[in-house]
Amino acid sequence: AASLPAGAIRLPLDMFQPERQNSRGLDLSDENTLKALGLTLSIPTTFGAQTGEAITNPANRQDKVGFIQATSVEDVKDVIRKAQDGFEVWKNTPVSERAACLEKAASHLEDDMPRLMGLIIREAGKTLANAVSEIREAVDFLRYYAAQIRRDFADGTAVPLGPVVCISPWNFPLAIFLGQVSASLAAGNSVLAKPAEETPLIAREAIRCLHESGVPEAVVQLVQGGGDIGAALVADPRVTGVLFTGSTEVAKLIEKQLSQRLNPNGSPVPLIAETGGQNALVVDSSALSEQVVADVLSSAFDSAGQRCSALRVLCLQDDSADRVLTMLKGAMDELRTGDPSLPETDVGPVISAEAQAGILRHIEELRARGFRIHQSPLEADCENGTFVAPTLIEIDSLSVLQREIFGPVLHVVRYQRDELPQVMKNIHDTGYALTFGVHSRIDKTIEDLKAASDAGNIYINRNLVGAVVGVQPFGGHGLSGTGPKAGGPLYLRRLLAHRPEIKGFSRRD
Ligand code: NAD
Ligand code: ALA
Repeated sequence: AASLPAGAIRLPLDMFQPERQNSRGLDLSDENTLKALGLTLSIPTTFGAQTGEAITNPANRQDKVGFIQATSVEDVKDVIRKAQDGFEVWKNTPVSERAACLEKAASHLEDDMPRLMGLIIREAGKTLANAVSEIREAVDFLRYYAAQIRRDFADGTAVPLGPVVCISPWNFPLAIFLGQVSASLAAGNSVLAKPAEETPLIAREAIRCLHESGVPEAVVQLVQGGGDIGAALVADPRVTGVLFTGSTEVAKLIEKQLSQRLNPNGSPVPLIAETGGQNALVVDSSALSEQVVADVLSSAFDSAGQRCSALRVLCLQDDSADRVLTMLKGAMDELRTGDPSLPETDVGPVISAEAQAGILRHIEELRARGFRIHQSPLEADCENGTFVAPTLIEIDSLSVLQREIFGPVLHVVRYQRDELPQVMKNIHDTGYALTFGVHSRIDKTIEDLKAASDAGNIYINRNLVGAVVGVQPFGGHGLSGTGPKAGGPLYLRRLLAHRPEIKGFSRRD
């Protein structure tokens, strides 16, 4: 058997849960599907009562998608008290009942796909295809964790923590939100769920769906608001665990806050943090240029580059760099950026004017330093929407990048064949370790680069995005997160006070 790199865990085949199926999708190449979806998406619904804060569509700020009432910092105390009551109920609810609630919610979401797609597209600026994937991933998380507790927790030895806080980002407003919440519920904890302030409406639909599927209201509560509300939740000593997905900067603040107290049983307060990346793809001169171009386009520009997994740095071997770049720039010229509800749109808006300004500032800084830039045509409604043209910047060194640029910006560096060890060192020295890719037809190169990378998810001769729950557990190390990987067999264990046996793993894994 091939040896594994140091620190790697051999995943037992069992973790794939052969009896579990991933969620079904929609055939967006079928005209009838598109016609039916078109009807659903064009219904001008406003979500929620017309009071409170208006949430607008990033592709068209004139479109008010819905309204929310934010929770106040004073209310946080009451919400946590209620979560303590909810915990007493939920920890005594049989595992099979907890799993059944999650499975019921999964089926409701799947049945409600067209309406939810409409909301995700308008609230988060997702394209049709991304909106479908978003719902499928959420459904997969619900079913995956439900299946895991049915299999591994049925003997009742898993002891949950108590009330936990889930804090999520806007870029996967349903999938990551429900991934965190479903795992916490599966483990038997009560949940205070704080979605990103940019995408509260889809989160509200998700929580309603859980309540309608049998999860009591005190067991999972929605807490709406921004960083101040997140910080108030984390600071409360009654909170026994935190699941956070978002920027590395905020993860550090949360870690610092939690390190100042202990849980009632004397152990540290568990934190699962999933954060940013400075993700690289190394392409050598043996790689198939057509495949490289297709994979780079989807890795860098899908979801307008607003994925933690997205490709930020393309490392091209000098011998073939000109050929690949000519093809890549040609393909970028064909990308359509605009209204995400149209089937022909490849790239939607970025989430906010603030995000747009930060990305454009970065591009202009590098332009001013003399780096060569190529941009896709931009024919979107820039008066009303926050669009950024997919952009390629040829830089001379990875050290140019001091932070994660969370948008459709791809940086390219060239290397000579004998510089590969230095390329890998430069990638390592960014401190991030989330996704990494190799495009090569030389087995030895692939093996060497795999061994030299410490990224959580490594992709060979394919794109870097779209990890599938239960098949490709997702997460990173260092500045990219704490682990364990979401959608993998060890995730639930961090959410327990006492570890049960997980089939195929030892208690030390
Ligand atoms: P963010 O850190 O600004 O916000 C994330 C969440 O944290 C929001 O709900 C926000 O309200 C809350 N928050 C902000 N300040 C807080 C504080 N002091 N205490 C508690 N909560 C606080 O991130 P974002 O802009 O919403 O998301 C983009 C970032 O998320 C990117 O860096 C991206 O790489 C990362 N991300 C990582 C993953 C992953 O799986 N590794 C997945 C998606 C996104
Ligand atoms: N899980 C998401 C992806 O792989 C972030 O793209």
